[in-house]
Amino acid sequence: MNLSELHKVAEAMVAPGRGILAVDESTATISKRFDALGVKPTPDNRRDYREMLFRSTEAMSKYVSGVILYDETIRQNAKDGTPLVKLIEKAGSIPGIKVDKGTKPLPSCPGEVITEGLDGLGERLAEYRGLGARFAKWRAVIDVGQEHGLPSYTCVNANAHALARYAALCQDENIVPIVEPEVLMDGDHDIDRCVEVTTWVLKETFQELFYNRVALEGMVLKPNMAVPGKKSPKRASVEEVAEKTLSVLKACVPAAVPGIAFLSGGQSDEEATAHLDAINRIGPLPWRVSFSYGRALQAAPQKTWSGKPENVAAAQRAFGHRAMMNGLASLGQWKADLERKAAA
Ligand code: 13P
Repeated sequence: MNLSELHKVAEAMVAPGRGILAVDESTATISKRFDALGVKPTPDNRRDYREMLFRSTEAMSKYVSGVILYDETIRQNAKDGTPLVKLIEKAGSIPGIKVDKGTKPLPSCPGEVITEGLDGLGERLAEYRGLGARFAKWRAVIDVGQEHGLPSYTCVNANAHALARYAALCQDENIVPIVEPEVLMDGDHDIDRCVEVTTWVLKETFQELFYNRVALEGMVLKPNMAVPGKKSPKRASVEEVAEKTLSVLKACVPAAVPGIAFLSGGQSDEEATAHLDAINRIGPLPWRVSFSYGRALQAAPQKTWSGKPENVAAAQRAFGHRAMMNGLASLGQWKADLERKAAA
């Protein structure tokens, strides 16, 4: 392991004013999104869509520090034959790769899942590094099912252990692991229940990272924010989300971790930006705090594009706008009226 290289890459992933674009949807997930827009889910359409984002040169070079790719995309060439990885590097952004193989039901734990993909991971990481990846992602999924007493210890512990095994394998191949334990916002639980479960999950994750000898200086944490479940009647203000999220993170995340890059998890575009901004307005923080958004960066450009070449310029503008808003939020410099002005 070359810890100074890992540390340098981790710092670059959370460089001031920049964050990560997560375009690592599996073929099944992106097909669902394309279906909703009436776009055929073909390899060429997936390539054209993602190429359009990577060619948004200003957004990429100013606000996007890194891009999480899917196995298909890291092997694809742009229409003109340039590898997509090269387009990303040319824009000054770092290519990364999703390496988990998705979730499977966790035996004896009804309603819970375990993320798979550890078998042969060392070899896959070596190949991905050869293809240009400098960081990786593994997502663990924890469901808060208040009425059924979820999550179980089995689920929290098994997923934390898998995350730590993955992270150790990444560092062994000189790839920075993004460690993503996602507590879902599905359900009707309130923000305090989210705080409770997120605290438990992060404590367990850092314990397993320690037991697996993962160097915290060479990783990036990708957590959920503390938010109420989508169906909770008790909504939380932007300030409450920011304060509660930070108090969980301060209690659980050692200062040796260079950066925290949140997932958006189903928040609206503007909520994800406003929450990130409010968190960064509470300072000073021991780590850099930024974004690693999928839906909150892509929903607007995807809809604007809708598979039509004549919409590419407008879709790139929509992407550039969201990237800029989140870049500002990562510095605590976003203002709601910037959104209104753009809409006007
Ligand atoms: P969302 O921001 O859409 O939650 O996606 C981020 C991600 O990479 C989930 O693994």
